[in-house]
Amino acid sequence: MEDVYILGIESSCDDTSAAVLKNGVLLSNVTASQAVHEAYGGVVPELASRAHQQNIVPVVDQAIKRAGIEKEQLTAVAFTRGPGLMGSLLVGVSFAKGFARALGIPMVDVNHLHGHVMAHFIDEPDADNPHPPFPFICLLVSGGNSQIIKVNSYKDMEILGQTIDDAAGEAIDKCAKVMGLGYPGGPIIDRLARQGNPDAFQFAKPHIQGYDYSFSGLKTSFLYSLRDWLKDDPDFIEHHLNDLAASYEKTVVDILMKKLKMAVKDTGIKDVAVAGGVSANNGLRNAFRDAEKRLGWNIFIPKFSYTTDNAAMIGITGYYKYLDGDFVDIDAPAYSRDER
Ligand code: KG4
Repeated sequence: MEDVYILGIESSCDDTSAAVLKNGVLLSNVTASQAVHEAYGGVVPELASRAHQQNIVPVVDQAIKRAGIEKEQLTAVAFTRGPGLMGSLLVGVSFAKGFARALGIPMVDVNHLHGHVMAHFIDEPDADNPHPPFPFICLLVSGGNSQIIKVNSYKDMEILGQTIDDAAGEAIDKCAKVMGLGYPGGPIIDRLARQGNPDAFQFAKPHIQGYDYSFSGLKTSFLYSLRDWLKDDPDFIEHHLNDLAASYEKTVVDILMKKLKMAVKDTGIKDVAVAGGVSANNGLRNAFRDAEKRLGWNIFIPKFSYTTDNAAMIGITGYYKYLDGDFVDIDAPAYSRDER
């Protein structure tokens, strides 16, 4: 068989990313992040689209150069079709269509959430990366999603439970924002939490049915508790920063792990992966290692570079779809909500 070169393109939120894979092995992965949103404490969709416009051509150019190939060698273009911010998606989708059409090669559309899960299948030239065996359970936790997924194959993913309101990453970012820390708050909370006492403070946990999640109550509980504490001590946040971060992070991790453990027990599937931006969190990673030791799970934790949005995960998903001949027409529109 001839070598298969896939160009992956990701532009669903605030990262413009392009990757090249040869026969499922990653050759390059280039990402331009957008610092412009920091001043606003969150992603501003219009600014994100504009930055994607500026970044897409140089990012793709770099990815092809670093892969050491010519663009004419590409076999297919895989792109994130959704879900995400419509203006952001349109930049990557339109670019992918024009690029593939100009080269006369097929296109493969990728669901962004499938991409996060498939990050576990990215192979690197010198690294032996164990792939989870199907079926496995995946906890997908990012800024926009919190889901427990039964992954039957690379394109058959069954959602067992998901958040009914905010995502875990959103809840962590909000906590950081309320305490006047930067954006995105996840890595900051993670760093502070490592030096704090996770049992210093207690916050409300949700009581909802099944495998679904809810984080809006926790956010409110944190806000109200803080308001009361600040009445007695206006410098309460500075005095207890590490403990607040550690206790809040622990609450989020406890909520995530409780439902995940239920799903693992009920399905009897002990191969358990974690994916998405929040999977970079050390508290969550430690909780997985603890479940491996105590409950006999086989755990799969992605490399830090594949936790947040990247085109390598889009490229690998596209590669498997390509092998199946699962292509998409040029008139396929982007979708902002999940339409797997
Ligand atoms: O997957 P991702 O890059 O974007 C979405 O598709 O949503 O996830 C971003 C989220 C943000 O909420 C960010 O604060 C969070 O992942 N995050 C973390 C950490 N690193 C990123 N949350 C907790 N601990 C971290 N170390």
